[in-house]
Amino acid sequence: MKIGVFDSGIGGLTVLKSLVNSRCFSEIIYYGDTARVPYGVKDKETIIRFSIEAVDFFNRFNIDMLIVACNTVSAYAINAMRKYATYPIVGVIEPGVLSLSNKISDKNKNILIIATKATTKSRIYEKKLHKLGYKNTHSLQTGFFVPLVEEGIFKGKLLNTTFEYYFANTKIPDAIILGCTHFPLIQNEIKKYFHNKPILIHSGDAIIEYLIKKYRLKKVSKKMPKISYFASANPKSIKDSAKIWLK
Ligand code: DGL
Repeated sequence: MKIGVFDSGIGGLTVLKSLVNSRCFSEIIYYGDTARVPYGVKDKETIIRFSIEAVDFFNRFNIDMLIVACNTVSAYAINAMRKYATYPIVGVIEPGVLSLSNKISDKNKNILIIATKATTKSRIYEKKLHKLGYKNTHSLQTGFFVPLVEEGIFKGKLLNTTFEYYFANTKIPDAIILGCTHFPLIQNEIKKYFHNKPILIHSGDAIIEYLIKKYRLKKVSKKMPKISYFASANPKSIKDSAKIWLK
């Protein structure tokens, strides 16, 4: 199976890693809109317009499915994108919610969603969780983690100060949805900050669970899939980051 993976930039490599490790795909085309990242601070119309342009990009590759790694795009643009594609397009929101519901059955548990400004504003995770009966949800926009991770800051003083800034008034949640591509790279530190108590939901792992359940995906090979990287700016930086992040 040949798939496309779309993200606003390099963050989607965290999802790519899970897709690669699943060994369910023979070929993966990764495209990051690095010229226009971040999407998480943009308005809905712009996010949709850029995302439709990405479908246009993928339409030349004869892919069997497009995975949208970006939470912000998944929150706003999936339906609009589907109008321009002949293959299924799968975002990360539903998989995240499904993964959480598989892990947390008590609807009174305290669930924290951390995401970009745009994803938080959409309230999409909360709406879907409320539909399933979860009563105790809380969203926080923690967009400053994005540039920190892009700077390669995965631990230390600056990250801890940012945790204090965002989480000082947050009581320890039972689960945290990592609602942004970049957050898995600091997930151990986030967990530590909350005394290793919360369960974390990672979009990449969630999407594999989802694809196996909904599309009956199976392991096709023990070998790494063939991966091609494309970017709207600095394609080399994606390849360089992939070397480090995919380890
Ligand atoms: N990929 C985005 C997301 O998952 C984070 C970076 C951005 O703001 O574009 O929401």
